[in-house]
Amino acid sequence: MQISDNWPGYSLDLFTYPQHYYGDLEYVLIPHGIIVDRTERLAKDIMQDIGDNDIVVLCVLKGGYKFCADLVEHIKNLSRNSERFISMKVDFVRLKSYHNDQSMQDMQIMGGDDLSKLTGKDIVGTGRTMNVLLNNIEKYKPKMIKVASLLVKRTSRPDGYRPDYYGFEIPDLFVVGYALDYNEHFRDLNHICVINDHGKAKYRV
Ligand code: IMP
Ligand code: MG
Repeated sequence: MQISDNWPGYSLDLFTYPQHYYGDLEYVLIPHGIIVDRTERLAKDIMQDIGDNDIVVLCVLKGGYKFCADLVEHIKNLSRNSERFISMKVDFVRLKSYHNDQSMQDMQIMGGDDLSKLTGKDIVGTGRTMNVLLNNIEKYKPKMIKVASLLVKRTSRPDGYRPDYYGFEIPDLFVVGYALDYNEHFRDLNHICVINDHGKAKYRV
């Protein structure tokens, strides 16, 4: 699903969102309900491709926790309502690379003890994070690795990584909400929104 560069988004007044973010956001890029509905379809596509294999879901924290939880929930529901039984394990890694709205050079990977076959991620921006993570996972020689990311940004950068499954391709904007943060703020916002200059200044570190 593509969101074009000239898409104006939805007015914030059409929805509810936490009062402590009033004045900090420009508009709603993707409302929460559409995120959940699209994620359900990704779950269906994943189920189809996985066949009878058991899976390990590797959730990339912190930004991927909402997407991963909703994706796992949909996979569970779909498999419960079908004749197929997919056994699922869940593991977590934490990656950190952003400062304000800029991707930083050094990347930290923390946690994660099981080899993975499926990773659930929030957003692929430059793609740097995903490349680092995949290099680390491949050491464990899993039978299959599939990457699901809710968002892919249209960046002009060359190392652009393409996940196997993604929910939305979005313009090269800094977005927050649905667990995506700006310096740890906005994770408690349920829609995916574009932050405004006031918000950026307020939470700058
Ligand atoms: P990449 O290395 O540039 O692909 O960035 C990937 C990571 O940076 C993601 O997993 C996010 O946690 C974070 N990130 C990238 N773009 C955004 C954004 O627009 N909003 C919030 N976090 C972002
Ligand atoms: Mg972040």
